[in-house]
Amino acid sequence: MNLLDGKLVSAKIKEDIKKDAADFTAQAGRKPHLVAILVGNDGGSETYVASKMRNCELVGFESTNIRYDVDVTEEQLIAKIQEINADASIDGLIVQLPLPKHIDPDKITEAIDYRKDVDGFHPINLGRMQRNLPCFIPATPYGIMLMLDHYKIETAGKHAVVVGRSNIVGSPMSILLARNANPGNCTVTLTHSRTKDLKTEVLRADIIVAAIGKKNFVTADMVKPGAIIIDVGMNRNAEGKLCGDVDFENVKEVAGAITPVPGGVGPMTIAMLMKNCNTAARIQNGLL
Ligand code: GUN
Repeated sequence: MNLLDGKLVSAKIKEDIKKDAADFTAQAGRKPHLVAILVGNDGGSETYVASKMRNCELVGFESTNIRYDVDVTEEQLIAKIQEINADASIDGLIVQLPLPKHIDPDKITEAIDYRKDVDGFHPINLGRMQRNLPCFIPATPYGIMLMLDHYKIETAGKHAVVVGRSNIVGSPMSILLARNANPGNCTVTLTHSRTKDLKTEVLRADIIVAAIGKKNFVTADMVKPGAIIIDVGMNRNAEGKLCGDVDFENVKEVAGAITPVPGGVGPMTIAMLMKNCNTAARIQNGLL
């Protein structure tokens, strides 16, 4: 069993971004700038945004965290997004999800200028991704693709089973794995809450991407010997320790390769957000 070390791969990617950011700063006279909007006080979102801001500093970006109380209106948020869209000193904009129930995430996502949409959630970026055109790719699926590439995992002709069809991970992941590209060219099954006999589907997989948000959901009896396991889960166990969607201890005995939690997909996600922001800064400033 090979351990797919996201900490190691992401550190290399961030080193390259740091060099790029220094070069951008020398040429543009300012650092690449990411703005993150955070609504309310959700503990998980606070942790994620704090980590994004910390990583900006690490690679030499400027970062701004704009915070709103949970009762901010959709109109107020959209007005702020439009102000940022028009601000040439800001290269990337993310609105941390989930949002409170009274705010429509689709309206917010579509309000962001697709050129600053470093989350890759805007329909223009998603459509361009599906067509294999230059675009911002959502950070978690993008990080998984680079990890497969880094470890030279053969994907062409393989059967990939994605568990979970979220807009952020499962759905874009299924598109990327099926694209005519390398990595890619998989035969993809996208499974979800209405899938019949999930175990049989998952057992057929050469590559499993678990993005369901339930701890220990993928067990050893669901895994074909030698399968590649990508665990996107970020759950807490009874002791409060971070754990994935995969029963790591037992599945690692069957798998060909597996990402740990923590230290697998998580660090890759952050690195790819930095990579997208670096690209956004260069494109918008005529340096790419
Ligand atoms: N919530 C969970 N993951 C993400 C992400 O990648 N981007 C944003 N904006 N919100 C999230």
